Amino acid sequence: MMQQIKITKTENSGLGNIDFSNIPLGTTFTDHMFVCDYKEGTWVNPRIEPLATIPTHPAAMALHYGQAIFEGMKATVGKNKTPLLFRPEQNAKRFNHSARRMGMPEVPEALFVEAVKQIVALEHNWIPPQLGSALYLRPFMYADEPFIGMRAATSYKFIVICSPAGPFFSKKIKLYAETEYIRAANGGTGEAKAAGNYAAAILPTEKAKAKGYDQVLWLDAKEHRYIQEVGTMNIFFKIDGNFITPSTDGSILKGITRDSVITLLKDKGFTVTERPITIDEIIQFSKDGRLEEAFGTGTAVAIAMIESIGYKDEEIILPANNPVSEDVKQTLDQIKTQEQDDKFGWIIPVEIEEKVS
Ligand SMILES: Cc1ncc(COP(=O)(O)O)c(C=O)c1O
Repeated sequence: MMQQIKITKTENSGLGNIDFSNIPLGTTFTDHMFVCDYKEGTWVNPRIEPLATIPTHPAAMALHYGQAIFEGMKATVGKNKTPLLFRPEQNAKRFNHSARRMGMPEVPEALFVEAVKQIVALEHNWIPPQLGSALYLRPFMYADEPFIGMRAATSYKFIVICSPAGPFFSKKIKLYAETEYIRAANGGTGEAKAAGNYAAAILPTEKAKAKGYDQVLWLDAKEHRYIQEVGTMNIFFKIDGNFITPSTDGSILKGITRDSVITLLKDKGFTVTERPITIDEIIQFSKDGRLEEAFGTGTAVAIAMIESIGYKDEEIILPANNPVSEDVKQTLDQIKTQEQDDKFGWIIPVEIEEKVS
């Protein structure tokens, strides 16, 4: 049986200081955090307590050897102001997939989902009211054992923090297809949501931004031809009326939005083919007038339309209109706020009363 989550509430809520019409991105946090410790082979002491800094030993193994993974998910508000989660069990499964790859212990799926539900139940007043806003949830795990030496740590912390996010300004994005740096190679950690993957992406992303692009379009490590993914998104192309997306080959993060969008597109009557796609193909499709739409998918923005892709001396310009992408975006947004039927069973309502004891 799952251990009960002990709740200690703050006496100094910061809720009154928040201007929900102007939330700075990523710097505002809610009052509480969920914390659980892994010691002697088991998860112990699950608790929700006031958000605070955590004393960390300078030899904590995550700081040296990078055993650190995370997830990203959002709580929205549905009918009757009910807080809603979107496919949280999928985040739990991916979290454990990441944990296995990084030699870290798995978190029981039920504990992961319950932790997220209970922190959302407690912090539901932090979900911004405006359409398109959400409470961003960041579950993460890191090795906190103080030890110098290369082996799996024996103690870890699993934590969930929450940050309100205002309506995401969904401007079209410009991508830079990277031919020098890579994100992931076969056999590497690309399919894990490991902190180090993001550290390695920082320099190439800064360089792409300096060239006037928004994000890097990652190509495969061996030939620099096969399209992998974008920044923190997976990618879709509409060619001759149907969709293609890179097949997940072990070096691409299996996006939950990607999976949901494949389901929605098929439901709307489109064919979606998951296969290796080269950048040269996309250039040719564009030159032949067959490239109709392209977009990225991810929890942060749901769907981001792509304006152009720079590759060596070429600039692939996408058509201005994105009718199908817009339609899928709207369907996804409306499912997340219960304005449309949740016919795929993706939405998990969070009960408020029983949690706040
Ligand atoms: C590298 C990477 N690819 C793709 C995604 C999209 O995944 P999801 O749709 O689950 O947010 C993310 C975001 O989590 C990501 O970090």
